[in-house]
Amino acid sequence: MTKCYTLFIVLSGKTYSRPKHLKKFYLQTFGCQMNYSDSERLETVLESIALTKALTMEEADIVLLNTCSIKQHAEDRVHGFVHNAKERGKIVGLTGCMVRKSSTQYDEEKDPLLKQHKKIDLVFRIEDMAKVPDYLREFDTSITRPQHEFDTNDYFHIAPKLTEKFRAYVPIMTGCDKFCTYCVVPFTRGRERSRPFQEILDECEQHIARGAKEITLIGQNVNAYFLDDSQRKTLQRQTDFAALLAAVAKIPGLQRLRFTTPHPRHMGDDVLEVIAAHPNIARNIHLPVQSGASTVLMRMGREHRIERFKKTTAKARELMPDVTITTDIIVGFCGETEEEFQATMQLFDEEQFLMAYISKYSQRKGTFAGEKMLDDIPKAEKERRFELLNEKLKETARHENDRSMGQIEELLVEEVSENFIAKGKTHTGKTAHIQVGEKGRRFIGEIVPVRITETDTWIVKGELM
Ligand code: 5AD
Ligand code: SF4
Repeated sequence: MTKCYTLFIVLSGKTYSRPKHLKKFYLQTFGCQMNYSDSERLETVLESIALTKALTMEEADIVLLNTCSIKQHAEDRVHGFVHNAKERGKIVGLTGCMVRKSSTQYDEEKDPLLKQHKKIDLVFRIEDMAKVPDYLREFDTSITRPQHEFDTNDYFHIAPKLTEKFRAYVPIMTGCDKFCTYCVVPFTRGRERSRPFQEILDECEQHIARGAKEITLIGQNVNAYFLDDSQRKTLQRQTDFAALLAAVAKIPGLQRLRFTTPHPRHMGDDVLEVIAAHPNIARNIHLPVQSGASTVLMRMGREHRIERFKKTTAKARELMPDVTITTDIIVGFCGETEEEFQATMQLFDEEQFLMAYISKYSQRKGTFAGEKMLDDIPKAEKERRFELLNEKLKETARHENDRSMGQIEELLVEEVSENFIAKGKTHTGKTAHIQVGEKGRRFIGEIVPVRITETDTWIVKGELM
């Protein structure tokens, strides 16, 4: 059992445990697109110190979890993973939204996670990923410094290790200043901070030069993008997101541009007009509304009312009749009455969402609602509302998919299954399954015109033109 030996060495007054020679890492990402994008940069750092990526947890020496803490369920999943990895004798490191302070079990000042869970070996804030080689040296002193030092002040300067050539995710801002009463993001991701305009354009150009057909601009509140972050304090002017979107859309060779997640508050006509003016921007807008009742939105501390949301979607449809709208909803928020819930059901009838990510309210420590409001909707009632809304969503999704019947749509082929079905997303955000021949795999990563001949609740089907 050579793998199980534990070697204690004493270096600079600290006790270091060195259980094994680190060769392979397994990186598991949870949560939103931002975490997946961060993981791509983290992979670059790990490979720079000659660690190779393991495809299963089994074959890895170190297991890293890029975590999400948006709901209790998300954190519970992480704890389950830690337990599993430790049972298999792995070194376990956590990063992402559950971590506040980079530290190992040997540090005097530790992140609370390390105190709660003695099994976790190290935690690091995602912004500190450039320091990971130093942290890992505590476990394996043979790890050498990377040839090129990474920027420790701005991890966005670390190039992502791309898993796919044909699509890329480009962060344009991070953090959130909105402090919705239910949400931990402002605490986990900190304040809104925009990346420099030119840096974003350069990164997009590089992706396109490498063959990316689709770029998604990402951030917690993408349309709170400012050229100069100090201007967000006055909020006397619109944000600069429309200008950024237009500049990226104009990059030669970019076939499809998407963005997520925008906030209804900053979704002005300027942004919608830019989308309408650029055919390569996807005709699908994800706009989280959270509830159909303004009274609930007020308790949630959302800075928009339902009338404003409806005006925005009406304008989007006026400018782009084929646009689809997707959204996020929380059911069973503190004090949500049956009437308020019915307002959300009615909103679905009016808006005909193509997709909605529906969550049951989960109380989060440290948030305003978590500390000061009563989580008074019983679990079973949250479940009932969730199910009812899901049934409603099936109707509205079908309605939106039906609109494509007989239409020609552009499909970005993401994969081709063994029975030659090409799968991907259309320009209007619909999931499409298209029968292709034996040589169909050559379409992976291509945008192809397809005729929609059949529609269903969650997908549209058709044929290659
Ligand atoms: N409980 C349930 N859902 C939540 N979300 C954010 N915080 C919570 C919470 N405490 C949902 C919102 C948000 C999405 C990313 O997660 O709908 O838009
Ligand atoms: Fe969370 Fe609200 Fe910020 Fe979105 S806008 S990340 S829901 S606090």
